[in-house]
Amino acid sequence: HPYETILVERTGRTATLTLNRPKALNALNLQVMTEVVAATEELDRDPDIGCIIITGSAKAFAAGADIKEMRPQSYMDMYLSDWFTAWDRLGALRTPTVAAVAGHALGGGCELAMLCDILLAADTAVFGQPEIKLGVIPGIGGSQRLTRAVGKAKAMELCLTGRTMDATEAERAGLVSRVVPATDLLTEARTVAGQVAAMSAPVAMMAKEAVNRAFETTLAEGVRFERRLFHAVFATADQKEGMTAFVEKRAAEFTHR
Ligand code: HXC
Repeated sequence: HPYETILVERTGRTATLTLNRPKALNALNLQVMTEVVAATEELDRDPDIGCIIITGSAKAFAAGADIKEMRPQSYMDMYLSDWFTAWDRLGALRTPTVAAVAGHALGGGCELAMLCDILLAADTAVFGQPEIKLGVIPGIGGSQRLTRAVGKAKAMELCLTGRTMDATEAERAGLVSRVVPATDLLTEARTVAGQVAAMSAPVAMMAKEAVNRAFETTLAEGVRFERRLFHAVFATADQKEGMTAFVEKRAAEFTHR
């Protein structure tokens, strides 16, 4: 692939996408956005991939959107190019995604992590929405997803003061599912991704869809949505395999359909 700002590796049914712009601490310019979206959409269409990990370097997951690229832009530039809107496509992937975050996850970097389904943090991870210090506000969903993840109290403080939070605080606040030693981050991410990728692909997609629904609708509608999907899983070969394997006291071998 002709990608210049990312690396893509496959291990079994798991793919790992590594942001690779070390000189700018993985700042998310338009090229990074285009490449991440293209690569993940291609992996999403691939039936041999069951989980996608997005990671950065030990120093920075991503230090935000590219400030140097944004600095000269006018309102019309931003509006007409619909700046950052392509990132929404990452949230629309059906394949489960894991963000493996070490170091800085600031601004757009924090927003990118929050666009992923499972968020694992190294003990070196630092999260924040420091846009206010640059005279701007979050633009890739940060004000919305951070608020839903950690609640108004912390989201307001982070967005209004630009202060960052460390991995421990992020876990306590419910932003990340787990904190692991930095040296184990990728191994842990691959273990989690491997577990997800071994499940029935359509059923994992439905589980993801159902959880995401909780952020879009009322409890009654969400439960109704879940019930419809729950009934639908009985149309899969993998439901028969999963339950048969349990009864036969063996490991399930899903055909992913
Ligand atoms: C462009 C960036 C960058 C960014 C770092 N760099 N962050 N370039 N955009 N977001 C570049 C620096 O300019 C520098 O390049 C190189 O990366 C190394 O960064 P340093 O600052 O020298 O590293 P360090 O001293 O270790 O500090 C790390 C840091 C700091 C604390 C993460 O870089 C930082 O505060 N970065 C900005 C964080 C931020 O404000 N993010 C939010 C962006 S706005 P040179 O070539 O100069 O040496 C955002 C908005 C989304 O995401 C929506 C709003 C419209």
